[in-house]
Amino acid sequence: MDAAQLEKDVSEIAGDWKNKEGNLIMILHRIQSKYGYVPREVSLEISKHLDIPLARIYEVITFYNYFKLEPPGKCTISVCMGTACYLKGAPTLLNELERVLGITEGQTTKDGMFRVEVVRCLGCCGLAPVLTVDGKIYQGVKKNEIGEIISKYAAEENGGNGGHKEKP
Ligand code: FES
Repeated sequence: MDAAQLEKDVSEIAGDWKNKEGNLIMILHRIQSKYGYVPREVSLEISKHLDIPLARIYEVITFYNYFKLEPPGKCTISVCMGTACYLKGAPTLLNELERVLGITEGQTTKDGMFRVEVVRCLGCCGLAPVLTVDGKIYQGVKKNEIGEIISKYAAEENGGNGGHKEKP
């Protein structure tokens, strides 16, 4: 990340909100919508600009799980852990995703390709267990389909279609 650009961004955003109530949250929202997450360098810069301890900034970021500390992946895989999905095997799907991708929930693969998140009920419990990839719903997913789903998105990113047949 370009340090000069970063300083300019923070200074602009922080400047807009400097003496306004709730400024830290609003600044963090602006930062996240710009970068997709709140990079540590940015938190340090905000801390300097607003004269707020870094620990306080992290307290706010971690309190609201909306804020992310890691860059988003090109593909976000969200595993539903609502009751219906949980009972129908969502924990097994999550374990398999973590095993195949070598990351844990809330992390992004080193190549920036995949991010895995856990979400609560997606409102389609009759299709459990459910996961989404970039918002596309996969229903009744089985552990042995995880590899195929990942390969499909990895292949698409590399310019092919991976030969995957989507569920109707
Ligand atoms: S519990 Fe997963 S969709 Fe409702």
